[in-house]
Amino acid sequence: MTAFRGIITLKHIFVLAFCVGISATLANALQWRDCGSEATIFNVFVSSCEDQSTCPMKKGSNVSLVVWFEPNKQITKATASMRGIMAGVPLPFPLQNPDGCKDSGLKCPLVGYESYNYTNSVYMHENYPTVKLLVEWELRDQNGDVIWCILVPAKIIN
Ligand SMILES: *[C@@H]1O[C@H](CO)[C@@H](O)[C@H](O)[C@H]1NC(C)=O
Ligand SMILES: *[C@@H]1O[C@H](CO)[C@@H](O)[C@H](O)[C@H]1NC(C)=O
Repeated sequence: MTAFRGIITLKHIFVLAFCVGISATLANALQWRDCGSEATIFNVFVSSCEDQSTCPMKKGSNVSLVVWFEPNKQITKATASMRGIMAGVPLPFPLQNPDGCKDSGLKCPLVGYESYNYTNSVYMHENYPTVKLLVEWELRDQNGDVIWCILVPAKIIN
């Protein structure tokens, strides 16, 4: 009986440690939101942001994005765009490579219900303002439909 009780206690400690670990991870994970994707998004990765809820985007560096997703139909053409939303006003960020089918990890046509990782990066110009903003990244298909759209809270830093 004593041994049994000992096991239970140890198990509870493990469960507790596991839960604390999970909430610590959640508190620090990238806080992305879906803004109207047709595809299913499995995960979003932003460089420099793995363990922060507000992504620091350093001026003079390239910030890269990976979106792991599964389209719900065939995609023959994909165009990426990015905006920074400040006080509700969206301002475009120019992307060096807006072609989602080129140098992005995607080989078009994409097949519906298969999963892919899209990669792109954006250069943070030195003349950008040092502000907090909501970054909206999206990828549209051959018909202009939104394949995926994600929102990430970020701040531009020196
Ligand atoms: C950012 O990316 C561009 C294009 O790939 C590259 O030419 C440039 O050297 C990179 N800059 C930095 C600071 O990594
Ligand atoms: C996408 O990247 C994630 C993380 O690196 C990986 O676990 C996953 O298998 C990748 N998916 C595809 C379809 O390559």
